[in-house]
Amino acid sequence: MEKGYLRNILMHFIIVMLCILFTHDAFSQASEQHDGVTGQNKILLIYYSRTGKTETIAKAIARATDADVIRITEPHKDRSGWEGFLGAAIDAFFDRRSDIEPRKIDLSPYDTVIIATPIWSWNLATPIHTLLRTNYFGKKRLILVTTANIDIKKYDKYKDGSGTAVQRFLHQYLEEKRMKARREIIAATANDIEWFKGHFHVETKGKLDDVLDNEGMALGAKIASLLELRE
Ligand SMILES: Cc1cc2nc3c(=O)[nH]c(=O)nc-3n(C[C@H](O)[C@H](O)[C@H](O)COP(=O)(O)O)c2cc1C
Repeated sequence: MEKGYLRNILMHFIIVMLCILFTHDAFSQASEQHDGVTGQNKILLIYYSRTGKTETIAKAIARATDADVIRITEPHKDRSGWEGFLGAAIDAFFDRRSDIEPRKIDLSPYDTVIIATPIWSWNLATPIHTLLRTNYFGKKRLILVTTANIDIKKYDKYKDGSGTAVQRFLHQYLEEKRMKARREIIAATANDIEWFKGHFHVETKGKLDDVLDNEGMALGAKIASLLELRE
């Protein structure tokens, strides 16, 4: 392997690890409620959650959109503690796959699928990365919901070339990661942007369960109106 390539990988890995270490927040949980939705659309919400934040948001979105819910787990991986955390960061950084449960999902009753995932190393979490490769979503409308310590658009204000070199670099870096996630989603459909209906992001650092639940409900209402589910 070339020296330059290795240096490049190492530099990216260090940047990701620094981002994670400066923003890591170890605590969280889950909860439940209801809101009315009309229309014929059948929606499935698939989520993975390591520490419960994405779960809280996903369940609130499901209530607001009347979606059925499937939780993805990794039966053969222990993602707990610092070792689990580090393993997850490395798996995501190198776009690895893992054994997930359920592996194949019956998508036939649904015309819309919402996928909710935490961000790991600025990639989709490994179980969702795997889900997108082991399932074919064809002509389903897909919506991506990501959660992370910081807002994925935090550095967008520097896209006009303002800010420091680091801020401009971070804007570029996160923009590329967003595009990568988008390509992954589109590739899992009939490979047409028409089926990708939107990417929503929730910043979770330091937020308690009831705040995440409220944000999930608000996001669910937004998604419902995007999908034209409300009267
Ligand atoms: C392995 C790992 C890597 C992470 N990488 C990032 C990251 O690159 N950027 C970020 O803002 N947050 C990162 N986080 C934080 C999570 O994305 C965030 O806390 C998320 O909301 C947790 O969701 P969960 O509770 O459903 O697992 C990372 C967390 C883990 C465990």
